[in-house]
Amino acid sequence: MPKGGAESAAASGLEAPRRDHAPEIQIERALGSAETDQRGTPGGVAEDMSRIEEVLVLDFGGQYSQLIARRIRECGVFSELLPSSTDLESIRTRRPRALVLSGGPASVYEPGAPRFPTELLDLGIPLLGICYGMQAMVQALGGRVEAAEAGEFGRTDLLLRDGGGRLLGGLPAEQQCWMSHRDSVFEPPEGFTALASSPGSPVAACESPERGLYGIQFHPEVVHTPYGTEILTRFLREVAGCRERWSPASVIDERVAAVRALVGPGRVICGLSGGVDSSVAALLVHRAVGERLTCVFVDHGLMRMNEAEQVVEAFGRFGIPLVHVDAEERFLARLAGVDDPERKRKIIGEEFIRVFEEEAAKLEDVGFLVQGTLYSDVIESGGGAGAETIKSHHNVGGLPEDFEFELVEPLRMLFKDEVRAVGAELGLPDRMVWRQPFPGPGLAIRIVGGEVTRERLEILRSADAILQEEVRAAGLYRELWQSFCVLPVVRSVGVQGDGRTYAYPIVIRAVTSDDAMTADWARLPYDLLERVSARIINEIREVNRVALDISSKPPATIEWE
Ligand code: XMP
Repeated sequence: MPKGGAESAAASGLEAPRRDHAPEIQIERALGSAETDQRGTPGGVAEDMSRIEEVLVLDFGGQYSQLIARRIRECGVFSELLPSSTDLESIRTRRPRALVLSGGPASVYEPGAPRFPTELLDLGIPLLGICYGMQAMVQALGGRVEAAEAGEFGRTDLLLRDGGGRLLGGLPAEQQCWMSHRDSVFEPPEGFTALASSPGSPVAACESPERGLYGIQFHPEVVHTPYGTEILTRFLREVAGCRERWSPASVIDERVAAVRALVGPGRVICGLSGGVDSSVAALLVHRAVGERLTCVFVDHGLMRMNEAEQVVEAFGRFGIPLVHVDAEERFLARLAGVDDPERKRKIIGEEFIRVFEEEAAKLEDVGFLVQGTLYSDVIESGGGAGAETIKSHHNVGGLPEDFEFELVEPLRMLFKDEVRAVGAELGLPDRMVWRQPFPGPGLAIRIVGGEVTRERLEILRSADAILQEEVRAAGLYRELWQSFCVLPVVRSVGVQGDGRTYAYPIVIRAVTSDDAMTADWARLPYDLLERVSARIINEIREVNRVALDISSKPPATIEWE
């Protein structure tokens, strides 16, 4: 909950709140889709989740709200995020085992601040308030919340009081936690026990076990709270009595059945990007409807080295009907003479849709379109607040109006890491399961300041392949959110052998991030950088210089265009 001045999520190794681009090509518009309810579309996952014990996280707008739901799922309990304004009846009908109130940026005593829904108390469901969630609960029940002299941001010492009570009892009396707040609880409500304090929080945790109410000022969901998972687990198991084990793999059968029920005898089409989301979605749907699924892989010629072959090979192995459209010529022809980033993106987006549409028209009786929509996309689109467009998305144009498919979205309830787990379970090759995000417009947006030509693509592709090979060999591939090369269309003077060269530079870009909203430049080892630089310059004639991008996001973005 950043009340001003919270540290950069990426720099601290934390999850950042929202993703501003889906990392893979997705055909954006939901055409002809049925009404959505809060638990997903008919193609969604959650319509039959009632059998599963779940914990609802009510979102007060905190930076880590999604992460709370993810951590709860990691504890083996299904969890969903709902707006804090969700009406009581919707919550009641879902019969959650517990409620968690997230952090948020407001101050409880400000006019218009989201209020603690006191009617929740009537449900008799255990409740854990985190940060703002705790403050709102405390204030509503008569405790004292005020601005502290100084806020607490980042690692903070936590001191347990009187043994730590039901929630924290048995944990070390002194421990660290992650804080991000300016207001503090000075007195808990009547009937509550204060469980811990920190330098800036007289009451850093409190509870009323008889009423099933618990509050913590710190963030158990971030990795910098070492006992965070233990605290969450204790709340889930001992307080809320959650028992059933939930895992991403456990939903596969149920998803397959749901897709079967939705599609009936219909035919399905899926646009593949080579990325993990569309691949896993396709595999799931294939398991459900077999050969009635056709995948279309639009190869725009802007992919990385051997990537198209890998997609074709992997899907061939599963026996999934795949139309591989080699559309390089078309894309390059349309990109000729264009160097403006936004125009490039728009052209590629439009052309992609056109090719896809042409291929779809060749298939008969297709009624359904698979989309690799993830839970973060669902939350974001429900969130509504339109963020400023920094870069237009690859698929900005959407599909034409007369392109009437019903959507099949088998990953709607899964987070990215859960999709990877499902992919691995379904037998997707490791290389695809763990593929770093790759933008829809591909290498075209990594050739900057000049036209995208076949020659430049070749140079960039070769440099990128060397980087990937060395990063993998150094065992760093999975630790990096992305690692890639950029080709600025400028030339500089060099000397090779006894001759003068006048050639392109290659820029190495490697970042760590949790969801691309914020990113930090990766501190790659010098010896790795040295090897990559030497190999790129030695092996690629047209390159005589290698530079390293050491900008974080913000203020830079991950991609150069
Ligand atoms: P930026 O450059 O905005 O990128 O920091 C954030 C993340 O989004 C990816 N990206 C895209 N993904 N279509 C996509 O599917 C796009 O047009 C696109 N542009 C950027 C980028 O690689 C990074 O992971």
